[in-house]
Amino acid sequence: MIKIVTIIGARPQIIKAAALSRAIKNKFSDKIKEVIVHTGQHYDENMSQVFFDELGIPTPDYNLGVGSGSHGTQTAKMIEGIENVLLMEKPDYLVVYGDTNSTLAGAIAASKIHIPIVHIEAGLRSFNKSMPEEINRICCDHCSTMLFSPTSTGYNNLIKEGFNPKNKKPFTADNPGIYHCGDVMYDNSLFFGQRAMSNEQWANCQKPIANSQYILCTIHRNNNTDEPKRLNAIVSALIKLSEEKDIIIPLHPRTKKLLNVNLDSETYDTFINNSRIHITEPVSFLEMIRLEKDADLVITDSGGVQKEAYFFKKPCVIMRSETEWKEIVEVGAAIIADADEEKIIEAYHHFKDNNSIEFPKIFGDGRAAEFICKELINNKTRS
Ligand code: UD1
Ligand code: UDP
Repeated sequence: MIKIVTIIGARPQIIKAAALSRAIKNKFSDKIKEVIVHTGQHYDENMSQVFFDELGIPTPDYNLGVGSGSHGTQTAKMIEGIENVLLMEKPDYLVVYGDTNSTLAGAIAASKIHIPIVHIEAGLRSFNKSMPEEINRICCDHCSTMLFSPTSTGYNNLIKEGFNPKNKKPFTADNPGIYHCGDVMYDNSLFFGQRAMSNEQWANCQKPIANSQYILCTIHRNNNTDEPKRLNAIVSALIKLSEEKDIIIPLHPRTKKLLNVNLDSETYDTFINNSRIHITEPVSFLEMIRLEKDADLVITDSGGVQKEAYFFKKPCVIMRSETEWKEIVEVGAAIIADADEEKIIEAYHHFKDNNSIEFPKIFGDGRAAEFICKELINNKTRS
């Protein structure tokens, strides 16, 4: 039996972790014991607990209750809490997802006490070091022992940074193993996509909009919420697009707190009082999947939502200057529009006029989590 400690903290990590926990429960419960640590980075009911209830993720064994704070304060508290847990639990591996401060804290805590790190969603790069996530993922990758990349781009990035694909097991921090294994989020979309809400459940929980044709939009990236110029440009574009279609926006708490701080007052009023712009609280994963499946178009700065748009064959306008998921842009399913009002509107019109988009398989076969479990077991038996 091997023991893993899984670190989660932010909404997308809780969702990603569901795939591995499900694989362990269904196929590897006699070989892998999972201890879950929630850092408490996200803590609102609709940013955290709702996913445990809905996705069948075991209740965390530890909740560090770290909460919000500056990068340094938040990450430092997490490192301290995670280190304590690791010293008590003495796991064979620490498993971290993605690129948040919870990921970085897990990687720092484990590497200093020589616990092998498994990084799921390794190798992704925006090549923009002003993003906190870029720093987090680079640091995490470079102290990891097993690196699971969802795409060939991610895998090749690792090779370019010096990881040797010919390394042999047993992998260690100085002899790391890299994999291109598909995306655990794709596993989840296939699994939960089939369970997406029935129409009845749907009508009960999500204010149904009269016109069923709508754009789904999410905004939370720190430069978009914190820089008034960018936030105003995004919101102005959405106001213009609402003349064409309804827009549903499940709003991240970060953005909610900054709307009236960073928007010009006239833009704020027009946005908030627009009958075709439906701003909601963050929704559950099954609600989100349903919203994605029924949307005509997705406009987002989220990493996860970009990919889910692709999984559900929806065109996507990316409100960033670059993306780690460059394949979806290369195949023509997504357009990078940055926080540029004109480009966002142009991208909408492009997709309105071109609806013959191809969505080739890029993110694996839906069994990435199973593959990861097998490799963890395999590596341990060789060491
Ligand atoms: C974090 C991740 C980001 C990820 C996102 C997913 C980092 C550096 N950023 O960004 O990569 O895409 O999560 O959603 O780790 N807040 C609440 N309630 C909550 C959580 C947050 O009100 O439950 C508010 C607080 O005002 C907080 C702000 O949102 O200060 C930002 O939260 P934080 O976790 O620091 O960063 P995110 O923007 O959520
Ligand atoms: N999501 C959700 N409810 C929402 C918004 C997003 O369940 O109201 C899900 C979404 O389906 C995806 C994940 O959260 O699986 C993406 O997280 P987020 O956009 O917060 O972060 P990112 O992926 O950019 O790190």
